[in-house]
Amino acid sequence: MPRNAEPPRIMDAASPAAIDRARELILAGEPVAIPTETVYGLAADATNDRAVARIYKAKGRPTFNPLIVHVSGAGMARRFADLPPLAEKLAATFWPGPLTIVAPRKKDCGISLLVSAGLDTIAIRAPRSKAAQALILACGRPLAAPSANRSGSMSPTTAEHVRESLGDRVALILDGGASEIGVESAIVKIDGDRAVLLRPGGVAREEIERVAGGPLESSPAGEVEAPGMMQSHYAPNARLRLNATEQRPGEAFLGFGKIAGRNDAALNLSAGGDLVEAAANLFAHLHAADRIVSSLRLKGIAVAPVPDEGLGEAINDRLKRAAAPKSGDNVADDS
Ligand code: TXA
Ligand code: MG
Repeated sequence: MPRNAEPPRIMDAASPAAIDRARELILAGEPVAIPTETVYGLAADATNDRAVARIYKAKGRPTFNPLIVHVSGAGMARRFADLPPLAEKLAATFWPGPLTIVAPRKKDCGISLLVSAGLDTIAIRAPRSKAAQALILACGRPLAAPSANRSGSMSPTTAEHVRESLGDRVALILDGGASEIGVESAIVKIDGDRAVLLRPGGVAREEIERVAGGPLESSPAGEVEAPGMMQSHYAPNARLRLNATEQRPGEAFLGFGKIAGRNDAALNLSAGGDLVEAAANLFAHLHAADRIVSSLRLKGIAVAPVPDEGLGEAINDRLKRAAAPKSGDNVADDS
């Protein structure tokens, strides 16, 4: 495992010195943890094979799952991918922002083959967080970045989560505060005029469909198109009980709206029943509930039902994965 002798340095993402230091490391082939509006990413030069390999190593990823390439906007994206008209339309509407577009990869585009893990497509997004944009521009190149957590654990939404998960496996963490959106980007694969939702995420299905002018297809059952979508993912240590209408003895509780727990082991994703607020709180509350379970030796976390509309689809998707049995953890997944 790559270990830096030093603990990670945490710098304020808003400071120009932090962007300078991050740029130096990235251009030298070192991954850097950066804030994005969805979750924190572990970013490296997408055109440098060794740098990309270091991402996999730092995460302890068992296999080479494909990574998302972060660009400044559609102009940079067109250098690496053939964007069909529908992809252009989605990019014009949602970029910069929490939408990842999977499209055919251009031959000899200069992106490390490790990024696409052997696929002839490439996943691209333009993040809207200021620090991510500043760093892409400073480096003048695309950044490959999966979520900045150790393989198999939850996505980080604060610099502290990154430090807890990656520790000395990363030299620098840019601290941009709590992630604005809190769940990963929605991933849409564009194949001619077909659009398939590979992962629900930070842009709601309904919003994408409005722009696409029709329903999104779902990925074929059982087929793993986005390998990070395998069952046991986003996993806290504690066992989860979903759609819980009450907190039972011995449980921590994650409420939503009026369905709330009653004691110190209870948190609420959004007391006002706001799905945007719930998404922003999701991973931080799962992290916190996990800590409560282990410190009070509870038997698990019960989670209130969350409506399956808007960002609720992404929230329920992550909750289902977090609740899935870890079956010996033999899945080659992680993201
Ligand atoms: O919000 C996000 O998307 C965050 C931030 C850091 O940008 N990133 C993120 O990356 O969630 P990661 O590696 O945790 O998830 C990327 C997902 C994986 O499920 C991967 O399999 C899928 O994207 N993916 C990447 N390239 C693909 C491709 N060419 N075809 C299909 N799926 C792809
Ligand atoms: Mg991930």
